[in-house]
Amino acid sequence: MYYPDELVEEIREKNDIVDVVSGYVKLQKKGGSYFGLCPFHNEKSPSFSVSQSKQMYYCFGCGAGGNVITFIMEYEKFTFPESIKYLADRAGVELPEMEYSKEARKRADLRNLLFEINKKAATYFYYQLKGENGANARAYFEKRELSEETINRFGLGYSNMYSDDLYRYMKKEGYSDKVLKETGLFTMNEKGVYDKFWNRVMYPIMDINNKVIGFGGRVMGDGEPKYLNSPETMLFDKSRNLYGLNLARTSKKPNLIICEGYMDVIALHQAGFNQAVASLGTALTTGHALLLKRYTNEVLLTYDSDGAGVKAALRAIPILKEAGLRIKVINMRPYKDPDEFIKALGAEEFQKRIDTATSSFLYEIEILEQQYDLKDPESKTEFYNAMARKLSEFTEQVERNNYIQAVCEKYFIEYDSFRKLVNDYGEKFYVANELKHQKQEEAAGMRSTKDDGLRKAQKILLTWLIEDPQLYHKIKNYISPRDFIEPIYHDVAVKLFEQLENNRLNPASIISMYESEEEHKEVASLFNAPLSEELSLAEKEKALNETIYKVKKNSVDYRSRNAATADELSMLVKEQAELGKLSKMHISLK
Ligand code: UTP
Ligand code: MN
Repeated sequence: MYYPDELVEEIREKNDIVDVVSGYVKLQKKGGSYFGLCPFHNEKSPSFSVSQSKQMYYCFGCGAGGNVITFIMEYEKFTFPESIKYLADRAGVELPEMEYSKEARKRADLRNLLFEINKKAATYFYYQLKGENGANARAYFEKRELSEETINRFGLGYSNMYSDDLYRYMKKEGYSDKVLKETGLFTMNEKGVYDKFWNRVMYPIMDINNKVIGFGGRVMGDGEPKYLNSPETMLFDKSRNLYGLNLARTSKKPNLIICEGYMDVIALHQAGFNQAVASLGTALTTGHALLLKRYTNEVLLTYDSDGAGVKAALRAIPILKEAGLRIKVINMRPYKDPDEFIKALGAEEFQKRIDTATSSFLYEIEILEQQYDLKDPESKTEFYNAMARKLSEFTEQVERNNYIQAVCEKYFIEYDSFRKLVNDYGEKFYVANELKHQKQEEAAGMRSTKDDGLRKAQKILLTWLIEDPQLYHKIKNYISPRDFIEPIYHDVAVKLFEQLENNRLNPASIISMYESEEEHKEVASLFNAPLSEELSLAEKEKALNETIYKVKKNSVDYRSRNAATADELSMLVKEQAELGKLSKMHISLK
């Protein structure tokens, strides 16, 4: 890391967490904390809490948590240094220039230049469309029924007839060939430099921050290729960007619609479905799925209704499922794609198709059915078995039963016997899965539930200490950072004990000593273990004493198992004695 700890801490302190989060989430004060709807998962009642005194946030629903730096990392998808930079700007703190290595500085400068050139190119195409040369392109968009407003919202444009029009413009603007080459907008070879796009209508592609990262260009009649796309560049990573997401991310709709093409997205937005996005002429990737999951829990697929579209949908479903998304499939028949559908039947009819979209499971079953001949008893039996096998993979009882019911109704199958078939498969599946799990756990030396309990005790103790710093002086003779076993727990305890000893409790500063979002989350969870509020003093004392004993005993046991040197062993003898003492005494909270 390139920023000194004190600077990070200064920037963190100058950005009050309630202030910053309020810019993104509507917060309401409740008791000592602020609550709102968690921006990191979909929910109807607020379980996202922000504490001004602790300068931390934590979601009791999804476990997201951290300090103000974490929040910006998580919300804006910034890296740690990017978040620091953002917050420093926000608070007017100046960052030292030498934060970057020379190499990194050069890359950052180039990135900025590429953003600048892309923006200029988009503006240039836009003016070409609006100007004298743009008559054909304007007519083309008109034919496709795009309104002026839509053209402006998507920043559509036109690239001129001449093969070096944009190049000459950029040279006039003073950019070097070396930089222009990196934009992907030009072809450079021995014969000269040519614009990649000419005589095409242009669709700028933006990242979620509305910055232009690439282009798609379409021929205005027949011609190959129909769409030409920018190559991957330093800015443009096709597997991590979705066309239209910059607009769809703020749509406030309960889902996102995924379609295939530029024009589908645009037509959907124009019809009011401003939650539509498209993958850019590539198959959907895990990167896309994770990106979508940041904004929604449910996606609706409106891939083309031809064979290739079905294939693409079947490929996308498991990828989306893996990312934890609920998936439905919209039936657009008899039309090819959403653009054609809306043109023919209008927005209201499309809304009806949304309302009646099939769950991805039933969609997969529909497709599966086509491989069998239901008039042939043998083939029919095979189909039922294939369905049962698929159904058995639902681990959730209620969900599984609902689908069994739905399938039985659809195919007139006798419910009880079919359910038995599913459950038979289910057992096999379950056993196989359990075995696999056990093996994995053993292989990875994973912790048992007992260990989970012990980790919980360590967490509770850390949380308790920041909630009630006075406690520290009562327990410091019995518990030390050494008693926290997991590496991250131990490091956090070292820092926390040091702060408590000096009467300078500041848990949020501990979080920013780590760099990754995962670590931030884990540390935040150590400070947000659930403490029961409704206990009487006596009950609290009992819980505290139990927790302390548990943590100490675990620590002594752990070190007995791992002690190697004579020093360690004699130390342990002492600690065994202390543990015995601890079991008989009682720490009072009064
Ligand atoms: P389609 O061929 O389904 O075109 O390609 P479309 O979206 O219906 O386009 P229009 O309505 O004829 O204008 C779907 C998407 O696949 C990518 C584009 O992103 C396109 O929108 N594609 C298609 C390409 O990248 N290159 C091509 O040559 C064709
Ligand atoms: Mn189309």
